[in-house]
Amino acid sequence: MANLPDVKKNFDLKDHNTMGVHANAQYFASVTSADELRQLLLQPDYKILPKLMLGGGSNLLFVNDFEGLVIHLNIKDRAVIEENEEELLLQVGAGENWHETVMFAVENGWGGIENLSFIPGSVGAAPIQNIGAYGVELEEVFESLEAIDLETGISKTFDKKACNFEYRDSVFKKELKGKYIITDVTLRLQKDPEVNTTYRALSESLEEKGISDPTIKDISETVIEIRQSKLPDPAEIGNTGSFFKNPVIPAEVFKELQKEYPEIPNYPAGDKIKIPAAWLIDRCGWKGKQIGDAGVHKVHALVIVNYGNATGAEIIELAEKIRSSVFEKFGIVLIPEVNIIT
Ligand code: EPU
Repeated sequence: MANLPDVKKNFDLKDHNTMGVHANAQYFASVTSADELRQLLLQPDYKILPKLMLGGGSNLLFVNDFEGLVIHLNIKDRAVIEENEEELLLQVGAGENWHETVMFAVENGWGGIENLSFIPGSVGAAPIQNIGAYGVELEEVFESLEAIDLETGISKTFDKKACNFEYRDSVFKKELKGKYIITDVTLRLQKDPEVNTTYRALSESLEEKGISDPTIKDISETVIEIRQSKLPDPAEIGNTGSFFKNPVIPAEVFKELQKEYPEIPNYPAGDKIKIPAAWLIDRCGWKGKQIGDAGVHKVHALVIVNYGNATGAEIIELAEKIRSSVFEKFGIVLIPEVNIIT
């Protein structure tokens, strides 16, 4: 039987959220195994408290202190659990760093997640928002995950269907929000991978570098270069990547907008059209703007940054101003991509 993890009181979460805002957790515990987690959940003192699961803290924003128990998922492990000549199943602990896992796969020549290089955060958080970048979404390589029911402490396996993946969305952000804790994730990777260069910024960069037949290592390196040139490093400036989702609008609405703004970038999304939120925000003149220590990144308008001592409430205030001006100009409502903890 695993020991009960050390539970800290009044714990400052500043180093546990990449936006770098201060917020106090009433209780905080870091768990290193599913058994340890179960022990914690069974404690009567903590059973009744609201709970928040924390991975790398790269996709959430604390607006207030958290009155309850914050559980930091620090479960680490990587294992090939099945393989044949073509592919393998890699099972990864929820607390493993996502990018280090991508590097591990690339170094072994296993393809499928190289386009998702350099995304901050943990493996356990990846399925919650179905992380995606440069032409690939997690669901394409996802096999299954194990999660523990917060009420009963019982583990359950979720296959791809049960996760109900959508663009930056899954069952864990909707019906099952706050009900399960993901303890590990299994990915299906390819031993003789086919690369995906469909994303224009990626194919253009490869072309500029004179790479016509890229390997997964080339893809990974190029994605890292693009991300480094556009997105601020949370270790240097507080941020949570894209603050809003890219809005998906009906084709008729898009046609009307296009009449007024013929240059509006757009991508097909089923029978609808996806518009880059960055473009909308940029066109409202927000890029590089700053209110106190909260700002809109100078290079990428979709990233809200903390230049030092911004509070969660100040970040939200700026986000609200951005939302209002995009709505006034374009009639489009931006929805946060970041998980806002109030
Ligand atoms: N653009 C502007 N101004 C800017 C930045 C971009 O007008 O300041 C326009 C350009 O037209 C550009 C377009 O927006 O072509 C799209 O920009 P980009 O290629 O950077 O992609 P994005 O749609 O802004 C999405 C994801 C990113 C992911 C990239 C690459 C969402 C919400 N964001 O951003 O994910 O890395 O594509 O695939 O879907 C994240 O989720 O945190 C994240 C960074």
